[in-house]
Amino acid sequence: MKGILLAGGHGTRLAPLTGAISKQLLPVYNKPMIYYPLSVLMLAGVREVMVISTPTHLPLFGQVLGDGSAWGMRFHFVEQAEPRGLAQAFTLDPGFHGTEPACLILGDNLIYGSGLARTLASAAAAARRPGGGAAIFGYPVRDPRAYGVVEVDGGGRAVSLEEKPARPRGHLAVPGLYFYDGSAGERAAALAPSPRGELEITDLNRTYLDDGLLSVERWGRGMAWLDAGTHESLLEAQNFVRTVEQRQGTMIGCPEEIALRSGWIGADDVLRVADAMGDNRYASYLRWVAGPRDGPAEAWA
Ligand code: DAU
Repeated sequence: MKGILLAGGHGTRLAPLTGAISKQLLPVYNKPMIYYPLSVLMLAGVREVMVISTPTHLPLFGQVLGDGSAWGMRFHFVEQAEPRGLAQAFTLDPGFHGTEPACLILGDNLIYGSGLARTLASAAAAARRPGGGAAIFGYPVRDPRAYGVVEVDGGGRAVSLEEKPARPRGHLAVPGLYFYDGSAGERAAALAPSPRGELEITDLNRTYLDDGLLSVERWGRGMAWLDAGTHESLLEAQNFVRTVEQRQGTMIGCPEEIALRSGWIGADDVLRVADAMGDNRYASYLRWVAGPRDGPAEAWA
């Protein structure tokens, strides 16, 4: 399955932080923001990822991420000249995904929780089946008006989808993580821009809903979904990561660790990354991850 990581946009809601840097490269505690959605793709088993950003920022992503080989992955960098909507991701370089299933994630979404890997594996498996449709998630939030909102019936089936409704039909927001069968490119190419001039991801998802091919999995209380698009939510995300990492002694969103546990790289590769970093807590963590891990997790801290 191919992965698409959308990391463009102007980041205006985070100004002046984003005056000289891409939002998705801002720190979320001890890692660049993009590590978190990238880790979700990795947990879904995705090793080939198209990273989309603005012409100005794209080279910075190359510097931060490299070509992917350090993590047993392959990155393909693609420019989005203007932010013309999330579904445009499928029309920028259609040769990348062709008619293969794909998983799209937004570069400012942080997802963490028990059972995440299992959820991702089953959504990916469904999208891989021919005519498998699309899978989205529903996450209860207090105020869903800033998000895509999905309404489900008693059997958990999607009934309606709306983008940023003034009067939401329910409280299930749609996180920025979407699994698609091989027809997403064709569907996206046929979309008309919305009144705000964007190819809306919600319109793409609605084509699947209309065809009876949209599945929604509702995430419960054990799952954390944060987006880091405003000053407040960025600080919340930072505090969340710090709190969990300090408490458990394990990291959220560490690509080297996921790659090692997935068997994509070996312990030597992890140590090489650590050595290139020198002496800091991230490098200590990598040394712990690469080792026999018989000591307590806090040993690296
Ligand atoms: O976070 C989940 C929400 O993301 C969903 O519930 C909504 O349905 C979906 O439309 C989206 O809403 P946002 O208001 O958060 O979208 P925004 O325009 O802020 O874009 C999300 C990220 O994608 C942001 O980090 C910038 C990037 N982006 C956005 C657009 C429009 C691009 O890279 N290219 C684009 O063209």
